[in-house]
Amino acid sequence: MFECAVEAIADTPRLDNERRPEWEPWRAGEARPARRHDLTVLALAGDDVVGYATLDVFDDPVSFPALTGVKRARRARGIGRALKLRRIALAKAAGLGDS
Ligand SMILES: CC(C)(COP(=O)(O)OP(=O)(O)OC[C@H]1O[C@@H](n2cnc3c(N)ncnc32)[C@H](O)[C@@H]1OP(=O)(O)O)[C@@H](O)C(=O)NCCC(=O)NCCS
Repeated sequence: MFECAVEAIADTPRLDNERRPEWEPWRAGEARPARRHDLTVLALAGDDVVGYATLDVFDDPVSFPALTGVKRARRARGIGRALKLRRIALAKAAGLGDS
């Protein structure tokens, strides 16, 4: 998952320069209380995480879509769309709305 995050974060349009996450801060961020791992969706190729979509809930029942990322070599094949749709379906089933 971290390998996927490194590529996805580097390629996410943003203004700051922190484009390559370090392992420990990234891991700590993933462990934050708002992160809903039960509503995180992974795209797997064998054991390799080739994409994922995460969700934070700061103010239940409102959810905030966090990173969606797909490894560069796997992009433009519909994985990102599938991750998003699945994440939305899971959030709705959990009674959450979008922020
Ligand atoms: C954005 C990202 C997740 C898309 O993943 P993907 O698997 O390539 O997406 P899909 O193949 O499912 O494409 C879905 C649609 O989004 C479009 N799309 C994909 N990346 C796009 C981009 N960077 N800009 C504009 N449109 C994009 C595709 O053209 C496609 O549209 P279509 O169905 O009308 O052709 C991937 O490019 C990525 O990881 N980017 C870096 C991280 C990022 O910016 N995440 C979003 C913010 S959290």
